[in-house]
Amino acid sequence: MPADLSPIDKAKFAAAKRAVEFVEDGMKLGLGTGSTAAWMVRCLAERIKDEGLRVTGVPTSTRTAELARQLGVPVTSLDEAKWLDLTIDGADEFDPNLTLIKGGGAALLQEKIVATASDQMIVITDAAKEVAQLGAFPLPVEIIPFGWQTTKALIEEMLVSMDVLDRDVSLRMNGDTPLLTDEANYIVDLHLKRIGNPRQLCLVLNQIPGVVENGLFIDICDIVIIGHGDGHVQVRDINNGTQTDDRIQFAPTDNIFADLGD
Ligand code: 5RP
Repeated sequence: MPADLSPIDKAKFAAAKRAVEFVEDGMKLGLGTGSTAAWMVRCLAERIKDEGLRVTGVPTSTRTAELARQLGVPVTSLDEAKWLDLTIDGADEFDPNLTLIKGGGAALLQEKIVATASDQMIVITDAAKEVAQLGAFPLPVEIIPFGWQTTKALIEEMLVSMDVLDRDVSLRMNGDTPLLTDEANYIVDLHLKRIGNPRQLCLVLNQIPGVVENGLFIDICDIVIIGHGDGHVQVRDINNGTQTDDRIQFAPTDNIFADLGD
């Protein structure tokens, strides 16, 4: 483990490494997006190289697809794979029910489709993302560019009757222009501070014309793996109601820490 790796990266690596232990030979896998998911792709590539593990990955973004190809993880489309054994992805926030906010990396649409098409979803995270109630992280909502200001206004109007603390809605930018998702859509971020009823908000958001999908993942995540900078990991299984503690040995081989980009 290089000394210059931050505690947060060590935590992400530990969670990713533990999650990849769930992968079995022949599995079809959903490959999440983000810096934690990138560690998972690296750990998976290590197992493929070291053990001859045979897996097929369905990436949830062009970024993840590029990284997987670069590291020798075989990838295919969801249409080819049809149904997946396991998806491993990061999250921006999770609560005690393992309800998630996702989409900080603007990949929520493909992430939700892929996770929903999987027998099991494991979320890998550091401890800072655990919250008693969701909403400190702005909720990303993917909307189509056509009439986006009207869609934004409809979201703002709808929020008046929702159990939330704040109601600011902002268009996500990439420099001077709206950020475009892999599906060429826009993202609006809902700054709510507290989401009292995620299930209601999720349903109502998706009824607004122009909304493609929102970043609330409800009843999708089965297991969350929380990594810590010292290699300690907690594995929480919502279906079994169990929590186990493990320790990841930081004994990386040479190239897993190369290309630390997201
Ligand atoms: C991308 C996501 C990511 O999983 C989420 O933003 C977490 O990213 P990171 O692991 O970099 O903190 O939802 O759309």
